[in-house]
Amino acid sequence: MVDPVLEFRHVGVTLTGRDGSINEVSSDVSLTLAPREFVSIVGPSGAGKTTLLRTAAGLRRPTTGEVLFQGRPLTDVQNGISVVFQEYNKSLFPWLSIFKNVAMGARRLAPAERAAHVRAALESVALSGFESRYPWELSGGMQQRAALARALVSDPKVLMLDEPFASVDALTRGLLEDVVGDLWERSSFASLLVTHDVGEAVYLSDRVLVLSARPSRILAEVEIDLPRPRSQGSTRQLKRFVELEAQVLELVLQAGRSVAGESASA
Ligand SMILES: Nc1ncnc2c1ncn2[C@@H]1O[C@H](COP(=O)(O)OP(=O)(O)OP(=O)(O)O)[C@@H](O)[C@H]1O
Ligand SMILES: [Mg+2]
Repeated sequence: MVDPVLEFRHVGVTLTGRDGSINEVSSDVSLTLAPREFVSIVGPSGAGKTTLLRTAAGLRRPTTGEVLFQGRPLTDVQNGISVVFQEYNKSLFPWLSIFKNVAMGARRLAPAERAAHVRAALESVALSGFESRYPWELSGGMQQRAALARALVSDPKVLMLDEPFASVDALTRGLLEDVVGDLWERSSFASLLVTHDVGEAVYLSDRVLVLSARPSRILAEVEIDLPRPRSQGSTRQLKRFVELEAQVLELVLQAGRSVAGESASA
């Protein structure tokens, strides 16, 4: 088996609120992400998906267990891991042009190489010609493509996506899914996607992990044996797609019911 690019070993995360309250968000999460693999995490709202992604990105330390990136303990934000968050209006700097925003992701490149990389990244998300615009002059979908360009300009090993398409309309969402899917097919990064949308997780992934309610752990893992390359029109109408979507949805509903059960007995 190939060595994973990212690994969670029995990761637990406990957060302390400002009032001193203790919140055990994750209890024991173990997972692996192989190089070039596309894995999604789905689960009930508040299960701790964002917290886990922040831990995977080195933005937060686990309370117990460890996170390994390329075989070494992850102790800080790493070169090689890029993250795109849900709110595109918070992920781009409004006072910088699109070119300069994307260049922020290329800070570690030699200055002489930077401009060419930024242009190539913008071209890969079909934003050539918008370099001198400001984020607020672009649609939501275009801003999210710019955020993707900024994440990918550094040629990361792992791209993490936290509900990246939640703020756009359904049509734009489908188009953005294909932008990510095509970029992933053509590049060599592994991807860890957090989403509420079961169909989206099945459509894009090699594997879908279902998270339980808090304190979360991995409840189930579903292999997505759909052929690639995938396309919205053909993949989503496959009988196998419909079966997998129903299977994952049922698991997420089970996870959600466990929350309802807990609150009823509390
Ligand atoms: N900094 C913090 N301090 C204390 N508790 C926090 C902090 N950040 C998040 N939480 C709590 O941790 C839990 C998990 O939050 P998180 O945002 O990771 O869930 P999520 O699965 O991403 O939710 P959603 O599906 O709504 O995006 C929530 O109960 C939240 O209130
Ligand atoms: Mg979240």
